[in-house]
Amino acid sequence: MTLNIPGHRDLRKILILNPKGGSGKTTLAMNLAGYFASLGRPAALMDFDPQGSSIRWLKKRPPNLPAIYGVAAFEKKMNMTRSFQLRVPSEIRYLVVDTPAAMTTAQLTEFTSGAHAILVPVLPSAIDIHAASRLIADLLLVAKVSRRMGRLGVVANRVRENTLGFRKLMAFLDRLQIPIIGALRDSQNYVHAAEEGSSIHEMHPSRTKKDLASWLPLTSWLEMRLNTPLTDRDVLRPGDGSEQPEQGADIVDLRTHLPRRDAEGTGP
Ligand SMILES: Nc1ncnc2c1ncn2[C@@H]1O[C@H](COP(=O)(O)OP(=O)(O)O)[C@@H](O)[C@H]1O
Ligand SMILES: [Mg+2]
Repeated sequence: MTLNIPGHRDLRKILILNPKGGSGKTTLAMNLAGYFASLGRPAALMDFDPQGSSIRWLKKRPPNLPAIYGVAAFEKKMNMTRSFQLRVPSEIRYLVVDTPAAMTTAQLTEFTSGAHAILVPVLPSAIDIHAASRLIADLLLVAKVSRRMGRLGVVANRVRENTLGFRKLMAFLDRLQIPIIGALRDSQNYVHAAEEGSSIHEMHPSRTKKDLASWLPLTSWLEMRLNTPLTDRDVLRPGDGSEQPEQGADIVDLRTHLPRRDAEGTGP
């Protein structure tokens, strides 16, 4: 499984990651693709998850909604090269990448390389916060996202504000100094949109007012990342990921932050 996307210079790649199933990767992927499409911005959705939920959603998409180009990257195609399979048409400008739960650290390195934005949806429960902290540790130390921290953002998902779980999630992320770029409500609109092949951006606004409002911080953060051109730092070369973490002012020492034994950790 490689993410060797034969992209073009103007393609902006948004990667959605979380090793935990059910955290909202596909929901976020579908609604992000729908966000771009609803604004008339040519978007593609690439699905690496063998479950294929994103691609199934695309197949349900009503013909009156703006088209989203789909790539079933999980399919093993014997009769074509991998890069041919993963190609996206040159008119596509936004590529949303949905990923499976299980990914090796090598894959993390490969997938995050060249991404304009890396989004991690997290549910506000102790188990989910723990799983996310492991992922974020791997991203920072192994996939060297530490040197492009600005591209990493956590999206709290299925949030019911003022619950203990939500407050714990916020406190933890705050200690890690990882930006929470949005908090999506626990809302049946996501469930309906998934069934209908649409997104909350394409439903009647009278139905989705609160959900749309909760997307504003996320999209404004994202637009800034998408408009920040990639530099050498954003593109890893083979072997980069296996080295020791580099020392730098922007590295976060996770040992002082992980929630388990070290909940009282101080800042970096
Ligand atoms: N904000 C939300 N509000 C309500 N239901 C949600 C929300 N986010 C996800 N879900 C539901 O939770 C389930 C798992 O979400 P999904 O996006 O498939 O997770 P993942 O892709 O990480 O496995 C789905 O049934 C989805 O409809
Ligand atoms: Mg999924």
